[in-house]
Amino acid sequence: MYQTLLTNLENGILTIIINRPDKLNALNKSVMEELNEVVDEIYKNSLIKAAIITGAGTKSFVAGADISEFLGLNHEEAMMLSEKGQIIFFKIEDCPKPIVAAVNGFALGGGCELAMSCHFRVASENAKFGQPEVNLGLIPGYGGTQRLTQLIGKGRAIELLITANMIDANTALQYGLVNYVVPQEELLNKTKTILTLINSKAPLAVAGCIQSANAVFDESMNGYETEVKEFGKCFSTKDMKEGIAAFIEKRKANFTGN
Ligand code: COA
Repeated sequence: MYQTLLTNLENGILTIIINRPDKLNALNKSVMEELNEVVDEIYKNSLIKAAIITGAGTKSFVAGADISEFLGLNHEEAMMLSEKGQIIFFKIEDCPKPIVAAVNGFALGGGCELAMSCHFRVASENAKFGQPEVNLGLIPGYGGTQRLTQLIGKGRAIELLITANMIDANTALQYGLVNYVVPQEELLNKTKTILTLINSKAPLAVAGCIQSANAVFDESMNGYETEVKEFGKCFSTKDMKEGIAAFIEKRKANFTGN
């Protein structure tokens, strides 16, 4: 169905593999269009409870936007490219279902930005992160300057942005850019184990947590007010009644997402 992505839905978890290994899974126009489509599918398809984004092969998650497509773009076209990319990555960030990056190698430029737009990141030991755009006379355009600063703080972010240095998986762990570092062969299983745990929770409550946490970084929102609204909404869900009843009856809750 997709030309540049491989997808597999198992136990409610959609694994999305960006599949251009000969170009280190660089984000060309087709990949971006298909990422947009697959994220729409995550929103719409009730069989999908959570998603993983990873790269094909063992060398690279995504080595950036496809540099060959930058040639010949003018100022306005470049702004449009950046805006379009940002819209797709906002859609990932705002998704009410968890989307986790399983970073299996290089996550550079747009690849680092893609990983950062996910709700959190799990990395393999060989993962490398960086925003090398200044090497090309560029800056990140898919939200990298913003999300890197949010995730690792201004000093570290500016240093990475303006040196173009790469950091390894353990440094990324120490910076809080990734939540776990695991051997490559355990990467997908580790990520699936976390998502299986999340999928046993009340989906509307999970969505409320994501939305409220995202509100911290959205200037148009007051995060505390968002939390009040989301907290209130839980009280009109069946799952909240089920969760409380299960606790009182000392049994496991059976959530339905209603
Ligand atoms: N865009 C387009 N093609 C890319 C790419 C990108 N961002 N990153 C890698 N590729 C391609 C290479 O051109 C090469 O293609 P070819 O075999 O047709 O020549 C192929 O992927 C393999 O990459 P190569 O550079 O030979 O691998 P390497 O192991 O020597 O180096 C990297 C790996 C990641 C260090 C290097 O590919 C690199 O620096 N990539 C660009 C990273 C970047 O600047 N990203 C930000 C873009 S805004």
